[in-house]
Amino acid sequence: MRIVVGSDHAGLVLKDHLAVRLRAQGHEVEDVGTNSSASCDYPDLANAVGSALTSGRVDFGILVCGTGQGMAMTANRISGIRAAVLSDTFSARSTRAHNDANVLCLGQRVVGSGLAEDIVDAFLNTPFEGGRHAGRVAKMMANDVEKA
Ligand code: RB5
Repeated sequence: MRIVVGSDHAGLVLKDHLAVRLRAQGHEVEDVGTNSSASCDYPDLANAVGSALTSGRVDFGILVCGTGQGMAMTANRISGIRAAVLSDTFSARSTRAHNDANVLCLGQRVVGSGLAEDIVDAFLNTPFEGGRHAGRVAKMMANDVEKA
């Protein structure tokens, strides 16, 4: 898969850990930063990940900050993005199967690296179920038009 990753300073260690692991698994990983521990603004990185996704050059995005929350709030304001903050594997599977989520947001201050790995695996390995969920996702995305 083609995956774009991004973090602020508070998510840097987990983002880099996940990027190394994803590349070792054979995924194509684009890293939009940050690449230093200097304080930075999470919306800049969420916007960069959103742009990579809406351009069509990647399949999924992974965003890490202290909590995942600011990343998801920012990403979900971009047309076409469905970002979910995740801290358990059941929700990771469900948000792919039911909501067709395309961005996974993690909190480095919330989940350990082992749980984060399991959440990423669950997210990437679960397909969207379609069917009755497709119409619901279409209704959700209709809000993009009203935002424009
Ligand atoms: C940075 O201190 C922190 O506010 C940020 O990483 C994130 O948790 C915001 O949602």
